[in-house]
Amino acid sequence: MSNQDLQLDNRTVVITGAASGIGLELVKQANLRQMNIVLSDINFDMLQEVKAQLKLVDSKTLLVKTDVSQEADIANLCELSFKRFGSVELLCNNAGVCLNRLSWEHTAADWEWLIGVNLHSVAHAIRHFVPRMLEQPERSHIVNTASVAGLISTPGMAAYSASKHGVVTLSETLYFELQELQSNLGVSVLCPAWVPTQIHQSQKNRPERFGEHLEPKDELSIEYEKNMAQAVQSGRLTATQIAEEVFKAVVKNQFYIIPHQRINPLIERRMQSILSLNNPEAL
Ligand SMILES: NC(=O)c1ccc[n+]([C@@H]2O[C@H](COP(=O)([O-])OP(=O)(O)OC[C@H]3O[C@@H](n4cnc5c(N)ncnc54)[C@H](O)[C@@H]3O)[C@@H](O)[C@H]2O)c1
Repeated sequence: MSNQDLQLDNRTVVITGAASGIGLELVKQANLRQMNIVLSDINFDMLQEVKAQLKLVDSKTLLVKTDVSQEADIANLCELSFKRFGSVELLCNNAGVCLNRLSWEHTAADWEWLIGVNLHSVAHAIRHFVPRMLEQPERSHIVNTASVAGLISTPGMAAYSASKHGVVTLSETLYFELQELQSNLGVSVLCPAWVPTQIHQSQKNRPERFGEHLEPKDELSIEYEKNMAQAVQSGRLTATQIAEEVFKAVVKNQFYIIPHQRINPLIERRMQSILSLNNPEAL
């Protein structure tokens, strides 16, 4: 990997989950740098609204309806992006969904949805984009969005946390492989804590093939869901700040992006419990 900062101005970025929250702010950061932007989301109408609101110009914009949990959709996103702009210098695997309830209230369909959208999406993107990005002579970069939930464990978030822990280790694995190849392709994993977005209303984006969204039953499950919605809305950093952190980290090829540094003691406590063989402490 060359020591020079990654050049992003006028290059091409692909962003999944681009219609809302952190994805939308990544689009704005890319637009500030006059990048060619491929916006992908399961909600195409919202993508069109974003394009209109931000006055994105046709010559530098491509909208692709994508269900990131489907490999064929990611293959199509990759094909269309390279066909339209010739190269991809930045790929942000950002789309994600959340669900809150006791572990035993997660149905098989809930697991398939969460793991499909949050983890399989990243695996599909790696499979389709990496070989093509490796062929590019210039430096390029991939950002996988995990969460602080990928570094610690929280009650009520079994499938979400499992999917995000998966994204962290998948990203670390990819990092080591790219290092061994001495490639020009960098990778980062983004692990934010709560950020005010629409993530607590993820069920709106649940495709029919993942079955009906069932309301949580147990009182504790209902409380988890309520607490999560409140926590999201009271997040200390905005989606804009998260997107700014992402672009700063990408330019300098920083792997771990943990914008809420106040969370560090919790990560440390988990690791200390593991290393000292103590039972997990509630964080
Ligand atoms: N908001 C937080 O507190 C927080 C914290 C840590 C990590 N994250 C992660 O940040 C990422 C972005 O989430 P956000 O907070 O901006 O939420 P958001 O709900 O505002 O945005 C998520 C976007 O993903 C899209 N999406 C959902 N399912 C999809 C699918 N199957 N295929 C393609 N697009 C799909 C939605 O339409 C939406 O536009 C997610 O991976 C999330 O897990 C969020």
